[in-house]
Amino acid sequence: MRPAILITKHLFPETVAFLREHADVDYEDSSDGLTPAALIARARGKQAIVSQLTDSLSREVIDQLQGLGMIAHIGVGYDNIDVGAASAAGILVSNTPGVLDDTTADFAFALLLAAARRLAEADAYVRSGQWKRWNMELMLGFDVHHRTLGILGMGRIGQAVARRAAGFSMRVLYHNRTRLAPEVESDLQATLVAKDALLRESDFLSIHIPLSEATRHSIGEAELRMMKPTAILVNTARGPVVDEAALAQALNEHWIAAAGLDVFEREPEVHPILLGCPNAVLAPHIGSASVDTRLKMTMMAAGNALDALAGRRPPNLLNPAVWESWAARLEGAK
Ligand code: 8YV
Repeated sequence: MRPAILITKHLFPETVAFLREHADVDYEDSSDGLTPAALIARARGKQAIVSQLTDSLSREVIDQLQGLGMIAHIGVGYDNIDVGAASAAGILVSNTPGVLDDTTADFAFALLLAAARRLAEADAYVRSGQWKRWNMELMLGFDVHHRTLGILGMGRIGQAVARRAAGFSMRVLYHNRTRLAPEVESDLQATLVAKDALLRESDFLSIHIPLSEATRHSIGEAELRMMKPTAILVNTARGPVVDEAALAQALNEHWIAAAGLDVFEREPEVHPILLGCPNAVLAPHIGSASVDTRLKMTMMAAGNALDALAGRRPPNLLNPAVWESWAARLEGAK
């Protein structure tokens, strides 16, 4: 029997077509996606759902997804999914790590450069007709080359950012739960430091930690006040790892020089003070948004779903302990 899959929101036609080759697909082809109630109703009778960042798969929702076997999430971050609740309900969860590392690291660097060299301000200045004459002190920014880059969270994306820093002759410091293997440290020319030292010494601080209760507001008022007044903060990870109100105050009152932000605490809302800060470069959560990478992410999630439904263990399970019971369930259904 062909499996039944729910796609919660608009996807690339190629990915939908790929899923349709192998499964009966219920496709919510809208950019709004489904409300939790609609998602619960549409998931009935499905073996898998292909989810996105905006689907809130909380314990309350997951507890009502009886019969579902798999949540194949598109994205490396999965703070929108209560994986513990899914495991308790015997539902597999997968994500899409790896394929977006370089693309997200490129974007972190784009924000870093844009914030340092005031690119968004400069663009607005030219377009609005304010540019009347060239002037020695027009739009002075900060050098990036030979400065110190601090990386908070040295996983795959943090490491990809460190590799880019070498091209700018930057000194790289990092803070991470675990130390990198010596050969990786030496390859990246990165030095592990305590979080306080990272905050105090970095000219640029780029955040690459996942969001969890433990990492919520990892950067708040105390941390921002430790940073240099010339420092630039870049966040392409998750909004709530930074206390956005404190950051807005820091930028407004120049405790730090600037920020490049792709993620926010209550997306798509942005703190009103941030919206008025010329020293903040703001983007609508597009770190992984290249044509190639977004397609790869969706195809990887689709592959994860189809693999699991066919009894092939997907490589990217977030709760691999559920696999045995899922495999037994598939066997029993034969
Ligand atoms: C995705 C992301 O675009 O991968 C992540 O964690 O934040 C983004 O790259 C998003 O998750 C798509 O659902």
